[in-house]
Amino acid sequence: MKNTLSVLNKKEKLTMITAYDALFAKIFDEIADIILVGDSLNMSFLGESDTLTATLEQMIYHTKAVCNGAKKAYIVCDMPFGTYHTPEIALQNAIKIYKETKADAVKLEGGIEKAETIKLLSDNAIAVVGHIGLMPQFSRSEGGYKVKGKDEASKEKLLNDAKAIEEAGAVMLVIEGVKEDVAKEISKSVSIPTIGIGAGRYTKGQVLVWSDMLGFFDEFKPKFVRRYLDGAKIVKDAVKKYVEDVNNGNFPSDEEIY
Ligand code: KIV
Repeated sequence: MKNTLSVLNKKEKLTMITAYDALFAKIFDEIADIILVGDSLNMSFLGESDTLTATLEQMIYHTKAVCNGAKKAYIVCDMPFGTYHTPEIALQNAIKIYKETKADAVKLEGGIEKAETIKLLSDNAIAVVGHIGLMPQFSRSEGGYKVKGKDEASKEKLLNDAKAIEEAGAVMLVIEGVKEDVAKEISKSVSIPTIGIGAGRYTKGQVLVWSDMLGFFDEFKPKFVRRYLDGAKIVKDAVKKYVEDVNNGNFPSDEEIY
């Protein structure tokens, strides 16, 4: 059965994982509740230094692939930087995502200032996931990736942002890089599900970038990431073995030829 919003809303906890292609989406489908086609793909797959250069075409291409691989998971497509700077432009681009992919929802970064945009999209039958706290699309203007909710003013702003996003019609809220007690208070103050990343234990769900949690991106490990696999090492060892087998004439064998 497909994970619709009503199915997700009945669950005690929610799990979200990123995926960028059909192969991994197929593996994660059935296991995780929600697959996020995050604009993080611009860094982990394209090797760019931030998410800001991701394009709408890129997101649509990868979301199509994920939708081909996943049949059960609820699929969320990130709206990339510069594709939702006015409500009207956001609507045009979100419609393009809905028309060209089978994404269940779009996600956009921003608080109270994005409420009008979220309302316009919601009023036009597009499900929106909000994203507050540390917002990677603000990394250039803010000069880095900064944890939020560290003082009273920041906490108040986050609480107001969450309320405004819920009232505008968002169906879910990602909270990234926020002090645990603040994320807890936000989660208690809204009735839509909250999904945390680096936001502690009290959000309804958790999200991790797949290449971080499976150890394929091994240059550094943010504090909030738990590595469930040493992916880069496992792959390197396997490829080394293949190269060795070719070099010493062990591959292909009698069973591997026509
Ligand atoms: O782009 C992404 O992968 C995200 C997650 C970090 C939530 O937005």
